[in-house]
Amino acid sequence: MKLCDRIFGSPVGAKMLMALTGLMLTGFVLAHLSGNLLLYAGQEKFNAYADGLQALGLLLWVARGGLLTAFVLHLYLAIKLTIENKAARPVPYAHEATIQATFASRYMVHTGLLMFAFIVYHLAHFTFKVTSPEIASLTPGDAYSMVILGFSEPVVSGFYILAMAALATHLRHGVSSAFQSFGLYHGNLNVVTDKLGPIVAAIVFFGFSSIPVSVLMGCLK
Ligand code: HEM
Repeated sequence: MKLCDRIFGSPVGAKMLMALTGLMLTGFVLAHLSGNLLLYAGQEKFNAYADGLQALGLLLWVARGGLLTAFVLHLYLAIKLTIENKAARPVPYAHEATIQATFASRYMVHTGLLMFAFIVYHLAHFTFKVTSPEIASLTPGDAYSMVILGFSEPVVSGFYILAMAALATHLRHGVSSAFQSFGLYHGNLNVVTDKLGPIVAAIVFFGFSSIPVSVLMGCLK
């Protein structure tokens, strides 16, 4: 059997690749959060960090390519596995046996789709700057003022906080489940694996949400 068939043709291979791409995306989210928390170090430091990223040149484009590939594969496999699972059980159970299933695990597709919508909006907002004329007219390279201006709008901040709740819900189940897909779920290890998802989810939710909240409260200006 060819490697490609082994990965995409078997549910186990597909689940492992889904776990791998999910963990790569989680790595990006945590790195992006660490960078964004530099907003608390002030305008000069944050803009220097943003300039430093741009100065990576080709390396930045390679990282962007890797991120996009991981994102597209993750989405493709999610759709494929969902369709296959539905086809395996065309008639739903009379009584849903979801006592064990958590809220987060039941809504992976919904929170995933919400993240897709959020990323499209987020790129339009901060990368392509097409959602508000004020952001488009800022001095190029002043990423700090862009974030402050962007979050001064309560509706925009509210949407970001809601999206962070969806992302945290997705990661709460996704991170733990990824480690299970790699077989890291036995003995004492499952105590760690079970806790990792909720811990990452809490860091991501409170870390990212603190930024729009701090702007609205006037702590970041
Ligand atoms: C408070 C929350 C967030 C803030 C303040 C923020 C801020 C930023 C900023 C300043 C940029 C750079 C825009 C540019 O100059 O091109 C950016 C890009 C980006 N952000 Fe965020 N972000 C947040 C949350 C997120 C989350 C949760 C995700 C993913 C789930 C995300 C994904 C991205 C992506 C994919 C890019 C494009 C990266 C690139 O061009 O290389 N962001 N964000």
